[in-house]
Amino acid sequence: MFKGRDVISILDFTRGELEKIFRVALKMERIGKREKPLLKDRVLAAAFFEPSTRTRLSFEAAMHRLGGSVIGFSDAEGTSLAKGENLADTVKMLDSYADVIVMRHRVEGAAKLAAEIAEVPVINAGDGSKHHPTQAMIDLYTIWRELGRIDGLHIALTGDLRYGRAAASILYALTKFKPKRVSLISPASLKPRKEMGDFLRGSKLKFFEGENLEEIIQDLDVLYVTRIQKERFPDPAEYEKVKGSYRIAPELLSRAKKTTIVLHPLPKIDEIDLQVDGTKFAKYFQQAAYGVPVRMALLALLLGGVR
Ligand code: NCD
Repeated sequence: MFKGRDVISILDFTRGELEKIFRVALKMERIGKREKPLLKDRVLAAAFFEPSTRTRLSFEAAMHRLGGSVIGFSDAEGTSLAKGENLADTVKMLDSYADVIVMRHRVEGAAKLAAEIAEVPVINAGDGSKHHPTQAMIDLYTIWRELGRIDGLHIALTGDLRYGRAAASILYALTKFKPKRVSLISPASLKPRKEMGDFLRGSKLKFFEGENLEEIIQDLDVLYVTRIQKERFPDPAEYEKVKGSYRIAPELLSRAKKTTIVLHPLPKIDEIDLQVDGTKFAKYFQQAAYGVPVRMALLALLLGGVR
């Protein structure tokens, strides 16, 4: 079911498959830091053409914890791409050196192209504004672990819903579940793109678009905050208009339910007041920590270490 598959978009997975990943991730959490050599002698190639902290390091940690090893680069300047080599040639090499390729690239569709070339599974670790499927797996896993379910919850996504691939991916993922409602809160210019809106309207997801978080805060179970993606704005003046649009502060959260959780794919800049970090609402560091067991589960499933 999983062995040998590429992971390009969260839409490639059924609800049942996502739940399978959660169950395996829970087992991986229990294995904890004791190395379990399920992927001994396997090699992961981390090809990061765009900056990353958590995604790359948690994939690397996951592979090491499973007894495998890691090769790769985190800056294309240090590779022959800087000499003009094309992406396809680079992927062909990685395909022969590794058993799985994890790739991040600023171009939408880059991971899909790599998957067409490579024999080994390709995992999309972010392609432009489009997809970031493993982040969505971690986000849903965090909700499931912290609140015990995804169905029936009121989940708000806020920030940059236009250019953010993490926001797009969790939104696609939520169409596989039955949340009570998904509220999309952003400045008008950062609403989900047309293709996304069309997809949502064609799905059964109950969603609502607005600009005001204050109106819904008291009903929320999950507040998913995202960074305004400065680097993806075609016009810097447009970024200046919307930067700092939302700032989640303790006063806002004082009106939320006691059980509300605040998530963020990180990195966060100024969209969450630092005072929130120490409150029981803040689950974003835990969410980042879940990145390791979720990626362990995915790697073990794709490479046949577990079934
Ligand atoms: C996100 C990304 O790179 O898309 N980060 C991540 O992988 N955790 C979010 C972002 O950069 O804002």
